[in-house]
Amino acid sequence: MQDDGSNGTRMNRRAFLRLLGATGGAAAVMGAMDAWDMALASTVEAPPLLSGRADGKRVIILGAGLAGMTAAYELAKLGYDTPILEARTFAGGRCQTARRGFVLTELTGETQRCMFDHNQFFNHGPWRIPYHHRSTLHYTKAFDVPLMIMVNDNDNAWDYRVEETNPWSGERRRRREFRADIGGYTAELLAKAVDQSALDQELTEEDKERLLDFLVAWGQLDRPSLEYRGTGGRGYEEDPGAGLNPGVPSQPFELSDVLRNSIINGFRAVEAHTQKNTMFEPVGGMDAIAQGFERVTGRFIHYGHEVLEIRQHEDGVRIVVADTRTGETREVEGDYCICTIPLSVLSRIPADFSPAFAEAIRAPTYATTGKMGLQFGRRFWEEDDFIYGGHSTTNVFGNISYPSYGWQGEKGTLMGYYNFGAQAIEVSARSPAERIRYALEMGSLVHPEVYEREFESGFSVAWHLVPYSMGGWASWSADARRDHYPTLNEPDGRVFLAGEHLSYMTGWMSGAIESAWIQIEKLHQHALTRAEAGVTRT
Ligand code: ALA
Repeated sequence: MQDDGSNGTRMNRRAFLRLLGATGGAAAVMGAMDAWDMALASTVEAPPLLSGRADGKRVIILGAGLAGMTAAYELAKLGYDTPILEARTFAGGRCQTARRGFVLTELTGETQRCMFDHNQFFNHGPWRIPYHHRSTLHYTKAFDVPLMIMVNDNDNAWDYRVEETNPWSGERRRRREFRADIGGYTAELLAKAVDQSALDQELTEEDKERLLDFLVAWGQLDRPSLEYRGTGGRGYEEDPGAGLNPGVPSQPFELSDVLRNSIINGFRAVEAHTQKNTMFEPVGGMDAIAQGFERVTGRFIHYGHEVLEIRQHEDGVRIVVADTRTGETREVEGDYCICTIPLSVLSRIPADFSPAFAEAIRAPTYATTGKMGLQFGRRFWEEDDFIYGGHSTTNVFGNISYPSYGWQGEKGTLMGYYNFGAQAIEVSARSPAERIRYALEMGSLVHPEVYEREFESGFSVAWHLVPYSMGGWASWSADARRDHYPTLNEPDGRVFLAGEHLSYMTGWMSGAIESAWIQIEKLHQHALTRAEAGVTRT
């Protein structure tokens, strides 16, 4: 056990600040977009096909998150004995869902018990699955976890920002107005440049014609003026209806005004790969994935077992664990270890690693990130504002994200903030009640009056303060990827690492699953080679 209590027990604010310094701090954390843009698609869609039995070989797996349970599930099929040592009292690691009764104690000692209504939930960890994360979808299918669509984009949602030059500063506007106008004007300018032969060096006559056709269609421009004059896609002043009601079209904003609104810097002609439709989430909460894995590996899991030491010798491993209820320690021995403990936590656990391996474990920083779930007695975003899923954006406190379940129901639970970096640290330093106050105050900028009035219950997480996680996900700098990342992808003696941190999909469940697939293949190869050579553990 660490004397600062950072390995799973209470922590005071001073220790918390020390911890942040040690894990990278405000300057070193990554924002959401970094994570999303850097993340790649899955390269594989099924576990490796492994042959050869390893009956009786014991692989001690540290952590019953998705990487650990993947490893146990697949290795057990080959005859391995796969005990999983899990510090928490439940399976899934960061794959959690807050629902009524869910309890979270952060390192500061603050405990929250979720008080949402029975049919409400909030995915405070993973909350969306891109269609190309085939390894995650492999297991949702294998474990019969029903999926639903997660609405990740909705330009009818609001945008609210405060900035000096912005003509709409302090005023909420529909995102679609700006998305349409900046696209339309960009098309207009480019079309005019092409038409006036400004790009003749780049384009053949044929290309010019084709590009003009494209720009006219893309920006819905008039011909022959090539002007953008607004489009129904930016919304109507009065919607068209039946009978004699053609509606009243809206007029585009002036280009120079649009350019002074920083919302445009958030629009992409090409969305980040991980943000593309279609996105999924499990029906009833993300923890359905954890439970799917638990159904097939639960018999291996030893809950409430906190790892204190990782020891190894040439022929085996020895893990020292403490029972989190009684404090009693014991040792578990095996032939191999697959350690899925986040590096932010692992770096504090005494272990027999080589100096290079130990240094590599300390190389990445971990994202400071927090989320707030807010239950409201009325779905005012749907009833009053016609917002069904997606995100309202701000430059003040981040986004509000609306639920993709329970449409038109009586109540609803939305995400009141999802913050990163310094902002996540600052907000997380408040008590849970203060965080709710903050979320309500901020959300009222976007949904005035109704937000406070309809609020019923809140539940927040600050992942950098969550025991056994100590961060949202690993963040590798280019230098650390080059100098240290490869080291951790190879075993150190008999210890193999796995987890989202050993992937280019950090912060995604597929990263955890696929890193486990890679490591079990290496481990199995090692075990079979040793068996052939007649090496057994004494
Ligand atoms: N995968 C994380 C998210 O979707 C970063 O927010």
